[in-house]
Amino acid sequence: MAILLTGGSGFIGSHTAVELINAKEKVVIVDDLSNSSEVIIDKIEKITGIRPEFRKLDVADKAALDAVFTEFPIDGVIHFAGFKAVGESVAKPIEYYRNNLDTTLTLLEVVRAHNCKKLIFSSSATVYGDNSPAPFREDAPTGNCTNPYGWTKYMIEQILQGVAKACPEMSIVLLRYFNPIGAHESGLIGERPNGIPNNLLPYITQTAIGIRDHLSIYGDDYPTPDGTGVRDYIHVVDLAKGHVAAYKYACQNTGAEVFNLGTGIGYSVLDVVKAFEKANQIKVKYEISPRRPGDIATCYSDPSKAAKLLGWKAEKNLVDMCRDAWRWQQNC
Ligand code: UD1
Repeated sequence: MAILLTGGSGFIGSHTAVELINAKEKVVIVDDLSNSSEVIIDKIEKITGIRPEFRKLDVADKAALDAVFTEFPIDGVIHFAGFKAVGESVAKPIEYYRNNLDTTLTLLEVVRAHNCKKLIFSSSATVYGDNSPAPFREDAPTGNCTNPYGWTKYMIEQILQGVAKACPEMSIVLLRYFNPIGAHESGLIGERPNGIPNNLLPYITQTAIGIRDHLSIYGDDYPTPDGTGVRDYIHVVDLAKGHVAAYKYACQNTGAEVFNLGTGIGYSVLDVVKAFEKANQIKVKYEISPRRPGDIATCYSDPSKAAKLLGWKAEKNLVDMCRDAWRWQQNC
């Protein structure tokens, strides 16, 4: 039996494919390659020695997806596919709601038709909004999202909770990612943002290598130790291993369960810049700019539920994340 990864050639999907293959699972990847390329499949093979099955398709294409379930015996699905650029989602809300909801609903119909019982979903800490102070526990209030991307994550969580209720033999795991950064230590796979990066680490690596003139730090007047925003950065390989643990959990349980995937440690923007400079012996030019609309001061996880029920904990530190991100930037 195989595990199907939708969006499996993207940043988090490709790292998860590697960890699943390392854990001796058989992996089938579907991806429309709208934000990745088939070269990633070669890279996964290079890292693991095993080539995952790959079919190029849009998850909203029901007939094509159904054919994959007919071709391969699919034991469960990890659903990564979706649009993910926060700023773009504000400009193109209809496209974001249409794409992220359509793909999920189509996937659920096909999953049901093939009697598949396990589903892991890529959710985000963005669903916590600014409803309560960090650290965020899974039972903290959700909603109040600041952009359509965040709302699609919130809505899909609601949809999946409903499916789990209606179908008690299913096992659905919602993984709320904090801030995934870094890259595989081989330097072969990593994050490849389209155009100007919105997220902090890709902006830092592109500044360090000279593609961008300087980093703008969005606000130094937040109520945080040094005034810059605090986030829970997690190495993408740790995050990928969290999916392997979640899949094992789904094999042994039914119902819907939510887990934070974070380190539980908050670092400020300046902490990250300093750690990057120290880890890689390179300067990052920066300027303080006004706050970015929609940002909150502090966001970090309480990761204890995942430690207790999944037996999973992030192991890599900020230096590892900065070093691996820089190696990838130099290679890509
Ligand atoms: C953002 C999204 C979140 C999404 C996540 C991963 C928002 C409000 N949230 O999280 O929904 O799941 O990305 O894609 O957009 N920063 C700078 N300069 C930069 C870039 C970022 O100072 O050029 C600061 C930000 O103000 C923030 C921190 O760095 O304090 C992290 O920002 P970012 O990497 O964009 O992630 P989030 O905003 O936390």
